[in-house]
Amino acid sequence: MEKLDDRIVTPALKNDEELEYEKNIRPLSFNEYVGQDRVKENLQVFIKAALMRREALDHVLLFGPPGLGKTTLAYIIARELGVNIRITSGPAIERAGDLAAILTNLGNRDLLFIDEIHRLHPSVEEILYPAMEDFALDIMVGKGPSARSMRLNLSPFTLVGATTKAGRLTSPLRDRFGMSLHLDFYKISDLVTIIKRSAALLKVDIEQKAAERIALCSRGTPRLANRLLKRIRDFAQVRGDGVITMDITEEGLRLLEIDSHGLDQNDRRLLLTVIDKFDGGPVGIESIAAALNEDVSTIEDIYEPYLIQEGYMFRTARGRIVSDKAYDHLDKKCE
Ligand SMILES: Nc1ncnc2c1ncn2[C@@H]1O[C@H](COP(=O)(O)OP(=O)(O)O)[C@@H](O)[C@H]1O
Ligand SMILES: [Mg+2]
Repeated sequence: MEKLDDRIVTPALKNDEELEYEKNIRPLSFNEYVGQDRVKENLQVFIKAALMRREALDHVLLFGPPGLGKTTLAYIIARELGVNIRITSGPAIERAGDLAAILTNLGNRDLLFIDEIHRLHPSVEEILYPAMEDFALDIMVGKGPSARSMRLNLSPFTLVGATTKAGRLTSPLRDRFGMSLHLDFYKISDLVTIIKRSAALLKVDIEQKAAERIALCSRGTPRLANRLLKRIRDFAQVRGDGVITMDITEEGLRLLEIDSHGLDQNDRRLLLTVIDKFDGGPVGIESIAAALNEDVSTIEDIYEPYLIQEGYMFRTARGRIVSDKAYDHLDKKCE
């Protein structure tokens, strides 16, 4: 089986080249940020209020699957607030001292973005509690019986945390965020807007129908929409005259083995495995993982969310069940 990194539909960032590509088409303001209206409205109100009070914005937790625009939002928030942004991630902060150093270096009202915040080490996370609540660091001075705790004041700052799994956040951490915003998969019409915007930035012409076709295959995810656009643009340059037409798009998607519902070979294989080997379920995630020779977490994080969201599969107390929709889509008889 193809490794996950090779999957065109993997919603996580693939490599540095993609990072560079995304940087060039990343929206810089709320006006350019398509969709997620409720999230934008909430943020705009809170940002305006914080600016009026001349205070640091309350801490914000962004949660949603990869590629939906969490990092982009963090940049936009900093820009709207007119403050510096410092970016790090849960797994990147190894020791409590590393976080303490980051926090003491923040300027007044600066924004600290911690990606994958659910992966913070517990001893690092503890430093965050007083920092978020009181803008203070509690540090231990000395060792043994003479050790004592000292409180160090920090400049007021805003923590923006991003997570793909709200459920994995400890409640003391979750409770310290003033607002918690959930990003949803994007509507097709929003994805079409994003694709056309990106095409314009890439200076490539795209037919409306082609943009709609790519949107349908993007699994509600802007990162995938942009990635497919890039692949099909390359294809249009090599096979056509550079214009992204419907024909070029169809052919490109066929070569990438993405079907009309945005499912790729691995999705189909997962569904077929449950159907053929487990009678459509219910079957435990461990059994599916074993049959596919994949990690449980890979299936839970990468494959499942979209399949469940689109109703190809259900998660029940007794295990996963493949739906009639999946049988129909795969042209299998449901017995
Ligand atoms: N609302 C949006 N409007 C336009 N483009 C978006 C939007 N959200 C995300 N994108 C695009 O998708 C890419 C991935 O977004 P990113 O913020 O890195 O996702 P996340 O941090 O949630 O994984 C960005 O480069 C950006 O160009
Ligand atoms: Mg991100």
